[in-house]
Amino acid sequence: AAAGSGATAGHENWSSRSAFILAAVGSAVGLGNMWRFPAEAGENGGGAFVLFYVFCVLLIGLPVLLSEVLIGRHGQASAPDSVQKVAQDSGASKGWSVIGSLGVFAAFLILSFYCVVGGWVVYYIGVFLGDLFQTGLTGGAFEGRAAEDIESLLPGLFGNGMLMIGLNMGFLAATIFFVARGVSSGIEWVAVYLMPLFFLLFLGITVYGAFTGNFSEAVTYLFTFDFSKLTGEVMLAAVGQAFFSLSLGVAGMITYGSYASRNTNLGATSGIIAGADTAVALLAGLAIFPIVFAAGLSASVGPGLMFQSLPIAFQAMPFGSLIGLAFFIMVFFAALTSSVSLLEAPVAFVKDRFKMSRMTATIIVGLGAAVLGVLSSLSFNDMADFRPLAFIPLFAEANFFDALDGVTAKLFMPIGAILTCIFVGWVADAKLIDDENGLDGVLHQTWRALVRYVCPIILAVILFFGIFG
Ligand code: PHE
Repeated sequence: AAAGSGATAGHENWSSRSAFILAAVGSAVGLGNMWRFPAEAGENGGGAFVLFYVFCVLLIGLPVLLSEVLIGRHGQASAPDSVQKVAQDSGASKGWSVIGSLGVFAAFLILSFYCVVGGWVVYYIGVFLGDLFQTGLTGGAFEGRAAEDIESLLPGLFGNGMLMIGLNMGFLAATIFFVARGVSSGIEWVAVYLMPLFFLLFLGITVYGAFTGNFSEAVTYLFTFDFSKLTGEVMLAAVGQAFFSLSLGVAGMITYGSYASRNTNLGATSGIIAGADTAVALLAGLAIFPIVFAAGLSASVGPGLMFQSLPIAFQAMPFGSLIGLAFFIMVFFAALTSSVSLLEAPVAFVKDRFKMSRMTATIIVGLGAAVLGVLSSLSFNDMADFRPLAFIPLFAEANFFDALDGVTAKLFMPIGAILTCIFVGWVADAKLIDDENGLDGVLHQTWRALVRYVCPIILAVILFFGIFG
């Protein structure tokens, strides 16, 4: 057991190391991989973005991921309390717990708009289910309907504020349900059942895309590097995406690490989590772009790629409506295991800090996310002209939904990560860190150098140029 402190009493645990890995991979793999990564890659010119993304994962994401789970495992408490415990055991100021508090707040903000997109996924499950009944098993999707017609499904949904809110609340309610059941019987349950199903479907669809779609054009697009395209803004987008995809900088991985046992090798486990997440992101690109290119559609449409272009592409494919249905069910599974982790970080905090039951804490945080979710849902229709951050040039054009997405991925996450690196690399006791990280020799030295120098410096530079460049 961990060093006995008051915070440890009654702290929950994963039932095994593989449960921890599945839950953490479940947190990492989500809409970030399936929806945000291909959209960002397409909007930021493909190859250069992808290469820099992989670079960010290896040199920044992975070291930060290890730092976060390590803080949690040592602290055995919610994120702010875990950081505080590491600080105290290192003779440093309790004030460092702000890393955890900022993270918890960011996780809460992300949760609120994440469940909005989760609602769109549910909508498309319904659309393809209905279509399957009409066209039958073997037909392409949306028989006889014009492309514009399929494309307009998403704006159609956006125009219906009540439906948007309803779907958003449904997805949030599912998230609340599993988090309220606790770590081992709720969060772990979704991960253990849904992640293997996700991987099965994912493999099937990737192979299908490779054989039926325009695979070579997708490979060229994603892996041809044109360095002139690597601007400050593209780099910030890539770091932001790496953090978003690995669930970093927002206390989620600190929280999940706190449920890990002393026997888990955190270095090796972090490698597995980052490896799985990156593989899924790259493969998602290799699954989506061939299908999109085969239909002669553009890569750079952004957020509409998964929700608009892909359904059009399914029209031309054999078994199109079945594949479409399987695709969105798969995305739903991935999204739910991520939203569960986004809710768990603030719930663990509220529960610890205000000595509440898990149920009460989950309902309180869930209600907060519902209120913000309504505002996000309405920013596609009734509140479309509202620019909450008009005074910040980087976010001047953003509606409520985009503002939450931009501020969390481009500010909260990198800043949280810089503070985490400084804390783990410079402030925390070196022996304590050494005992926790599960790394030896060269790997340990490399990780330490990355956390102390490379990560904070690169992050600060990218943050600067991304904002002012
Ligand atoms: N990593 C998740 C995804 O890719 C999103 C997420 C971010 C989850 C931050 C938890 C914390 O969809």
